[in-house]
Amino acid sequence: TDRYAVIGHPVAHSKSPQIHRRFAAQTGQDLHYDALLAPLDGFAETVRGFIADGGCGLNVTVPFKEEAYRLVTRLTDRARAAGAVNTLSFRHGEILGDNTDGAGIVRDIRVNLAQEIAGRRVLLLGAGGAARGSVLPLLQEAPACLVIANRTAARARTLAEALAAHGKLRGCGFAELSGQSFDIVINATSAGLSDAAPEIPDGVFAPDCLAYDMLYGRETPFMAQARRAGARVSDGLGMLVEQAAEAFLVWRGLRPDTLAVLAELRRS
Ligand code: ATR
Repeated sequence: TDRYAVIGHPVAHSKSPQIHRRFAAQTGQDLHYDALLAPLDGFAETVRGFIADGGCGLNVTVPFKEEAYRLVTRLTDRARAAGAVNTLSFRHGEILGDNTDGAGIVRDIRVNLAQEIAGRRVLLLGAGGAARGSVLPLLQEAPACLVIANRTAARARTLAEALAAHGKLRGCGFAELSGQSFDIVINATSAGLSDAAPEIPDGVFAPDCLAYDMLYGRETPFMAQARRAGARVSDGLGMLVEQAAEAFLVWRGLRPDTLAVLAELRRS
C-alpha cells in the first residue's frame, strides 16, 4: 500500500487526512494517508525518515512550506513562482516539489463558484506566502488586471516585481486602492485570524463582485465588510479541498470529485 501524509507543526487539526481518505475511497485507490508531526527543528530529518520507510508523497503545511522549497531536488514552475512547496513526491530518488494552492483557489473560483477570471479585474490582498502562491495560477487565467495590495506596500511592490515576467501585475498599499474597483477580491492576509480586516475602502467591491477569503471556519471581518458592500462572499474551504484534489492528481493521476467532499466538510 502506498503511503502519504500531511506534515506540519501543529498538524492534529489538519483536515487533509479526512479529505485524502475520502478521495482514495471514492476513486478506489489503495493508499494510506496519515498526519505526521515534525519537530520545528526536524523537518528535513522527518521527511527523510518518511522516504526511507517507503513513503510516496507528503503534503506540507505550516510552518514548513518554505523549508520544503529548499529541500527538493526539482521544482515545478508554479512552486518556483510561489517560493513555497505544499506537495512533495518521492520518485526515483528525487524529491519533487509542487505547489497546488494557487490551482486550488483558481479551480474553486472558476468551477465551484462559477466565476470567470479571464478578463476580470482581480485584487489580491496580502503579500505573504498565501498571496504569493496564487499569483502565477491567477495570471495564467488572463485577468484584465491583477493588483496586489498589502498593509506594508513595499512588500506588495517587491512581490509584483519578482513575478512581473509572468504577466501584467502591480503592487501597492491599501490607501492607493481608493477610487478603484474589482470584480474579484481575494483576501490572502492573515488578518482574520486575529479578528481584524485589511483596511480597504468599500469601493473596491464592484457590483456583482466575488469576495473570497482564504480562511475558513469563521466569518471574518473581511467577509462581513464585503457582504455589507453587496459582494457575493466565499470562505476558503473550497480552496482547501481543491488544493488537496490537485495534489491527489499529481500523485495518482486521477482527479477526485471534490463537490461531494466539500459538501461533507460543510455539514461537519
Ligand atoms: P501567510 O504565509 O499566511 O501569508 P505571512 O507571510 O506572515 O503569512 O503574511 C501575512 C500577511 O497578512 C501579510 O501580507 C500581512 O501584512 P504585512 O506584510 O503588512 O505584515 C497581512 N496581515 C496580517 N495581519 C494584518 C492586518 N491586521 N491587517 C492587514 N494585513 C494583515
